[in-house]
Amino acid sequence: MSGPGLDSGRPRAVRTAVFPVAGLGTRMLPMTRAVPKEMIPVFDRPLIQYAVEEAIAAGISDLVFVTDRSGPMLESHFGPSPELAGKIETGPGGERLDAARALVPGNVRFQFVPQGRPLGLGHAVWCAREAVGDAPFAVVLPDDLMVPGALGELVDAFHARGAAGVVAVEEVPRRDTARYGVVDSGGDAGRVSRIASIVEKPDPADAPSNLAVVGRYVFDASIMDHLGAVPPGAGGEIQLTDAIAVLARSEPVYASRFDGERHDCGNRAGWLRATVALALAGAAPEDGYAGEIRSLLESWPAAGGSGR
Ligand code: G1P
Repeated sequence: MSGPGLDSGRPRAVRTAVFPVAGLGTRMLPMTRAVPKEMIPVFDRPLIQYAVEEAIAAGISDLVFVTDRSGPMLESHFGPSPELAGKIETGPGGERLDAARALVPGNVRFQFVPQGRPLGLGHAVWCAREAVGDAPFAVVLPDDLMVPGALGELVDAFHARGAAGVVAVEEVPRRDTARYGVVDSGGDAGRVSRIASIVEKPDPADAPSNLAVVGRYVFDASIMDHLGAVPPGAGGEIQLTDAIAVLARSEPVYASRFDGERHDCGNRAGWLRATVALALAGAAPEDGYAGEIRSLLESWPAAGGSGR
């Protein structure tokens, strides 16, 4: 097993994260007509902010967004805001904050890479190859909002195992395997297990397990070569999963079980649930809204089940 940066001569520190955010968000229309999906608020901040905060907490300082339209919005959201100079904001813990400050530390860099054509997740990641260079990198799919963040554990497993890749997985009902990448880890029930194979969106009858990939990955830069070579797969798209399958045939790739709570914010039901769950989780006793949500829910059946 190779330790971090010891024998390959390649850098091993994971400082870069790729955020594929070029999708049109059609499942979230009409919210996403003018506002990119990653800018839709979940409770009190845009979806992308959870992913960025998770990445920074995992030691990431280079953020690469694969996007065709949201670069200026992302820059203005995370950067300093001259318009807010002199204004004070109340922080989550009730503290007074300078509203004009940047939302990310000063060492964090943003890069924007166009995808151009929607050829699939694997293609989106491949579009970031020049920004990534020859260093290992993370891939973060903001639609999967993880509580607590999962990326730090993946980075740790990547180093500890001398891995070429680590993907986050969680058990899903078998009937849902066709929505995910699904791994075969040879029945190893450990928290981190070596992947024997991985397949994108298998029918339940063909799925090798019910361990589904959720949107966090760490890779050695060599995955880019595989992404450039794999043919279109499930749905006619270039699949990240297919490149992982090729990598796992020759290099150690691991699945790391996530045991927190994942909110799938790529569809309305998951997004709404996340908003309510995070609002309740963040509520202080004096915040009236927690009680209001509770009483809304209590009166909901009596209202005939209509949300309007
Ligand atoms: C993508 C990946 C899939 C993974 C999923 C996690 O699918 O292709 O392997 O399990 O994200 O959310 P998508 O949701 O883009 O169809």
